This record gives sequence, C-alpha cells and structure tokens, in this order.
Amino acid sequence: MADGLSAEVAAEAGVAPDDGAVPATGWYAGDIERVVVSEARLRERIEELAARVAADHPGQKLLLVGVLKGAFVFMADFARALGRHLQVEVEFMAISSYGQAVTSSGVVRILKDLDRDIAGQSVIVVEDIVDSGLTLSWLLRYLESRNAASVRVVALLRKPKAVTVDVPVHYVGFDIPNEFVVGYGLDYAERYREVPYVGVLKPAVYTRP
Ligand code: XMP
Ligand code: MG
Repeated sequence: MADGLSAEVAAEAGVAPDDGAVPATGWYAGDIERVVVSEARLRERIEELAARVAADHPGQKLLLVGVLKGAFVFMADFARALGRHLQVEVEFMAISSYGQAVTSSGVVRILKDLDRDIAGQSVIVVEDIVDSGLTLSWLLRYLESRNAASVRVVALLRKPKAVTVDVPVHYVGFDIPNEFVVGYGLDYAERYREVPYVGVLKPAVYTRP
C-alpha cells in the first residue's frame, strides 16, 4: 500500500450479516424488510475505524471530505469519533453522474465543490458506500489534481463489486450483500436518510404509486 499504510489495515471490513429484528420505532418501520447493520454495530465499528485512522496518522490534522448527500450521517459520527484522537476539519462535495455515462466512463458532474484550497493537506474521503467504485475513482483523481499531500478513503459500506475493482478503499466499515440499502444517510427517492440503521426495503415500497 502506498505511503506506508499496512496491507492488513487497508480494506479490512467488518462482516454485516442481518442484524436482527426491525425496531418498531419510526414512520418507516413498516417499510423495512431487514436490518443489515444495527445502530449498535454502526457505533462500535465507527469507533474502531476512527482509532485505526488516528493510529495511522499520529499527530496529524486531517481534512475530512464528505460526499453529499449520503455521507452526511456517517461524517457526523466519524468526525466526532476521530476528534477524540486528533484534530479534524470538514469539507463537503456534492457530485452526480452524467446520466448513464458514469457506468462506462466514470465521468461525474460537480454540484458543490470544495470551499478551500486543499494543497498540502492530509485528506480523508468519507464515503457512504462504494459499489462500482467509479465515483470514488473520479474523486480520487480530482483531489490528487488539487495537490493534496495524501488522500485516503474511509467508506462505511462496500458492495461485492467494489472488492474486484482497482480503486483503493483504505478503511471499510462493512462488506454488505449486493442489495439496495437505505438508512444512515442513504436514500431511496430522497426518503429514509434519517433511518438510524442500514436496512433493506420491502419490495412493495418500490411498486407503490
Ligand atoms: P459507485 O458505483 O460509483 O456508486 O461506487 C457509489 C454511489 O452509488 C450510490 N449507491 C447506493 N445508494 N443505496 C443507496 O442509497 C445503495 O445500496 C447504493 N449503492 C450505490 C451511492 O450514491 C454511492 O455514493
Ligand atoms: Mg441516492
């Protein structure tokens, strides 16, 4: 792994089996088929990720770059967990794919750019989920072109396809099955971002008018 990051730390993920019964709380409770990662396991794993990132960057100040909108919940919890170990600052970017083109080219459109110069800074990209890795690979190239001193990636969730593509994800929360998940920042049609766990929707939700 580049810049001294140990191979063992890189891309090691927690296992995310189904995490038990759906809590009865929340307007959305009846829409969730299964919990994939519970609140308790999210909390625990984020503490572990923060401790690892801190151990790999002793005494450094880290600039966290969150990818909107999906990463906003993870960013909030991860920044506070990391902040117990070292100094952090936060920035956000919003990007969207150029329609279908992203599947072949990985070309994305910047909806909201960084608010500052990142030259010379140690950057940690904070991503909600990596699937094909195309979004991330574009983003890494972009941040490197802005002359960051280093760029590493922490992704809360990783789908199976991402393991096979050549994009570095240095820290991974959980490997999840190849299913569409919502909650903890992730949406379906802009809904369910406020769900406090990661779950799978009931099929009926997708066919509702
Ligand atoms: P790629 O394929 O570029 O995609 O790695 C990453 C982006 O795709 C979205 N995505 C999801 N969003 N539930 C979601 O709400 C999912 O299961 C899911 N899988 C991929 C997401 O925007 C992510 O940043
Ligand atoms: Mg979305």
